[in-house]
Amino acid sequence: MMGPRPIPANTNSDANSVLPGSPPDMPKLMEGSHYIKEGRDSAKSTCVIFSPTDEDGAGTLAKCLKIFTRHNVNLSHIESRSSTRVPGYEFMVEVTHGAGNFVGAIEELRDNSNYFSIISRNYKENKTAVPWFPLRIRDLDRFANQILSYGSELDADHPGFSDPVYRNRRKYFADIAYNYKHGQPLPRVDYTEEETKTWGTVFNKLIKLYPTHACREHNHVFPLLIENCGYRSDNIPQLEDVSNFLKDCTGFTLRPVAGLLSSRDFLAGLAFRVFHSTQYIRHSSMPLYTPEPDVCHELMGHVPLFADPAFAQFSQQIGLASLGAPDDYIEKLATCFWFTVEYGLCRQEGKIKAFGAGLLSSFGELEYCLTDTPEKRPFNPEKTCLQKYPITEYQPIYYVAESFDDAKEKMIKFADTIPRSFGVRYNSYIQGIEILDSKHQIENVIGDIQLELQILLQSMRKL
Ligand SMILES: [Fe+2]
Repeated sequence: MMGPRPIPANTNSDANSVLPGSPPDMPKLMEGSHYIKEGRDSAKSTCVIFSPTDEDGAGTLAKCLKIFTRHNVNLSHIESRSSTRVPGYEFMVEVTHGAGNFVGAIEELRDNSNYFSIISRNYKENKTAVPWFPLRIRDLDRFANQILSYGSELDADHPGFSDPVYRNRRKYFADIAYNYKHGQPLPRVDYTEEETKTWGTVFNKLIKLYPTHACREHNHVFPLLIENCGYRSDNIPQLEDVSNFLKDCTGFTLRPVAGLLSSRDFLAGLAFRVFHSTQYIRHSSMPLYTPEPDVCHELMGHVPLFADPAFAQFSQQIGLASLGAPDDYIEKLATCFWFTVEYGLCRQEGKIKAFGAGLLSSFGELEYCLTDTPEKRPFNPEKTCLQKYPITEYQPIYYVAESFDDAKEKMIKFADTIPRSFGVRYNSYIQGIEILDSKHQIENVIGDIQLELQILLQSMRKL
């Protein structure tokens, strides 16, 4: 995937040989367009991106690297590329935490840089760092190592806690997800007769309520899932088939997830139109109850909506807003996610309908949410983001969106209040995030948009 590349003009292409006095454990210089660092534990490293002030070819990088040597800081990865922010090159180095004066090294490096940015999982210890976020869709592979709990560990009050067969099965599903890598097909699973029966019980109950309780978009897509993805009471659909269907509709894809992700990581997936999905099913002793998301919740609740273009855009906006945001804003965005994607209601033709996956996958709460018992308030991110909510019982308050487009516009305005020194944009050609923090980059984007506008205007004239 990556090979040695020529570094800045006038340098030798053999990186190791042009770096006299390289810091200990100096890795080879790698091709620089991806900024991807696979297979390492990102919690133990920090990523520094910089453009040196002093551009004199071969000597530039060597001088910067000597700073790390002087401070006895080890580097585990180095990349270079032409900068889109300032004239010249920029470098990304990954620093392994350990002995050495990391703070001293970065302060010296910052003093000698035109552009300087730190992206780190350890941002709390380093006030100037931006919290780490994935820049390429492949970076989502790193989340497998960052789960808060492994999916096979069950609490004592879980319905499957004392069932060794179920626990074994959960470990099987957790291992699938843990070993999954971007680009691979999602592993197909032979669900047992008992698992399929549990699915059938949930499926048959829910489809009775959808025509009257679910939003228009859900009712539009559900028959397509029956037709194309094997949604039937006697069959649990395969994530691979569903993911391919979604990809055709809106570019959304599914990724299996082993356990609980942090809100930060989970929301970051949405920025790439990737939804982290469980693949196991709830315990058969209580088919209408699950203390955690399962395949019924994902496939019947979430999936139909991700096939809708406006909803897909809305979800991606929450994801983009979360990238590099401070912790308190991540919590606010996760709360907005809760009251929309999980428990949202919307107004359609004068009636209130459900679009949240937590509602569309729970027979009891789907009925309850449209009664007069719970309070209904208009969705407004600034206020909704502060609302506390219970996670083990029906919601006492629901928020009603006027439409997905309206909710999206409100989210975009809300995202603008997040303190962040850069803008972000998803580039679907490269399935990557562009960090917009220079005039030059923004001018390039404006150029792209002007070209698109020209095409639209020319097409309009032909009508
Ligand atoms: Fe969910």
